[in-house]
Amino acid sequence: MCGIIGYVGSQDVAPILIDGLKRLEYRGYDSAGIVIIDKEAQLFRAVGKVSNLEKRIGSHPLVGSLGMAHTRWATHGKPSEPNAHPHADCHGRLFIIHNGIIENFQTLKQDLLDEGHTFRSETDSEVIAHLIEKYYDGNLAEAVRRALARVDGTFGLAVIHKDHLDQAIVARRSSPLILGIGDGEHFFASDVAALVKHTKRVVYLDENEMAVLTPHHFTIGSLDKPDLVHSSSRTVHVDWDITAAEKQGYSHFMLKEIFEQPEAVRNAFRGRLLPAKGTAKLGGLDSVIDRLQAAHRIIIISCGTSYHAGLLGRYVLEELTDLSVEVDLASEFRYRKLNFRYGTVVLGISQSGETADTLAAVREAQTRGALALGLVNVVGSSIARETSAGVYNHAGPEISVASTKSFISQVTILTLISLMLGRLQKLSLRDGKAIITALEKLPSQIETILSNADEILRIAKKFADYKNFLYLGRKYSYPVALEGALKLKEISYLHAEGYAAGEMKHGPIALIDRQLPSICIVPRDSSYPKMVSNIQETKARDGRVIAIATQGDDKLRSILRVEDGTDEIFYIPETLEILSPILSVVPLQLLAYYVADLNGCDIDKPRNLAKSVTVE
Ligand code: M6R
Repeated sequence: MCGIIGYVGSQDVAPILIDGLKRLEYRGYDSAGIVIIDKEAQLFRAVGKVSNLEKRIGSHPLVGSLGMAHTRWATHGKPSEPNAHPHADCHGRLFIIHNGIIENFQTLKQDLLDEGHTFRSETDSEVIAHLIEKYYDGNLAEAVRRALARVDGTFGLAVIHKDHLDQAIVARRSSPLILGIGDGEHFFASDVAALVKHTKRVVYLDENEMAVLTPHHFTIGSLDKPDLVHSSSRTVHVDWDITAAEKQGYSHFMLKEIFEQPEAVRNAFRGRLLPAKGTAKLGGLDSVIDRLQAAHRIIIISCGTSYHAGLLGRYVLEELTDLSVEVDLASEFRYRKLNFRYGTVVLGISQSGETADTLAAVREAQTRGALALGLVNVVGSSIARETSAGVYNHAGPEISVASTKSFISQVTILTLISLMLGRLQKLSLRDGKAIITALEKLPSQIETILSNADEILRIAKKFADYKNFLYLGRKYSYPVALEGALKLKEISYLHAEGYAAGEMKHGPIALIDRQLPSICIVPRDSSYPKMVSNIQETKARDGRVIAIATQGDDKLRSILRVEDGTDEIFYIPETLEILSPILSVVPLQLLAYYVADLNGCDIDKPRNLAKSVTVE
């Protein structure tokens, strides 16, 4: 959840670190810190955003070519300057930056206090600095290894020491750590986004590995063994363009990413459609296609927006195949006593590929004998590497904390998987071709919706002062309702509830009055008549409605009071029922964005959140 960037080489390191921090800020932003070691260690930390850290540094000249920096998302200890990373040992000789949680830190801390160490923060992380100090006898790598052997929990760790001006040590367990390979210089980061400006050659550290970086060399090894070896064959090329991780004139990353959605859908199906055969080909699943064909049960596990994509995946998989499909929140999955028989497939969906709950659930499923697959956007991420096979989104970097383009991409790929499996079963060539034709139209249909963004802005202005919102949908539009509500609440801090429209009469209808607008997702599909009845029930109780409907739906207009301004309709183009979420979610993303903007919220960095949730 926190961000790490570091460097060892010959350049002036300060601008590299500050730029890297800005690119990582979406991972956590309650405090930030930097340490550069030259003749002396120069340590600066500040509560709040990176801009506060810059103010704190002020005109102080930062000198040196070895350093590292951190953006924090607090777990242990409130956001404060002493709790911000980097943390030092007792004598300020070595510094650590840590992402993750040290579960046994209380015991370790007590032991270290008893031995005379002085602690300056409330964090769990600081124990690592003191443990390394305890074991240090001139060999920093060995001290790090011995310290980490005492630690229970998770870490993405970076360490530098005053006695080793040409060395940085990094290690990982369940928290990403990536090496950036340069010429005469090396970088390390928690996230590719911080590296691509400098190098596209990276090495993803594996679980329980550590690495020693010097300007001209890097060695990697297991945390359990003392031997570290140079392994250039581990270097992979990252194809992310630096401009993809910049705002390019948009006021926020979220808005930019909403407008990138036509391309995200194109990238999701590019090269994966076989129109003549009415099916899809997903190269990442080739190696497991026999097991997939033999599967009788798929369990989709994910969190947040990815969970909503999973809910949609269930509808479409059930529609196009004979599989029995379950969807579970990754954080709940592990509490179920599931009986895995041969033929159970678990699909973990995650934009970041690092979400701790999803990663833990995937691992759990694998130990129980399931075939684990991943649907992941970030190439080389933990879920991508730990699953047996999978599909990449190719949606490009998603920087905004609020997921948008990754959702649309996930739903598109779930449709491709369903199409592929359906065609291997009973789905007809004709139906397969119809799905492909409709898929190919989606990017231009999303463009049509985006070209009407001003209409959503107008609606947002009317409703921005309301404090509570209800999002209603049925069948395919139910997960869209959940997603629309999540978008609004996470970036505007307004109360928004997504509900299955059919459940309204079982309780929530009691809430309806003029102060509670209902956003009704009502495309013309198989659940349309029942959804219209729900809208009529809302109107009968004086509720205000914003409807997302199919172009040309005049019947709905006659039910709503659009002319006098009480209600609103936003039209989306017609598509197949299974694809309608890919269109209907776009106006909801825009509505959330504009309402949050009108309320002056910090859209790309909503309070208390972080882009990648690497704690359980
Ligand atoms: O990286 P993941 O897709 O695994 O992330 C899962 C959730 O943390 C994420 O979707 C979160 O709910 C977003 N902030 C929603 O916009």
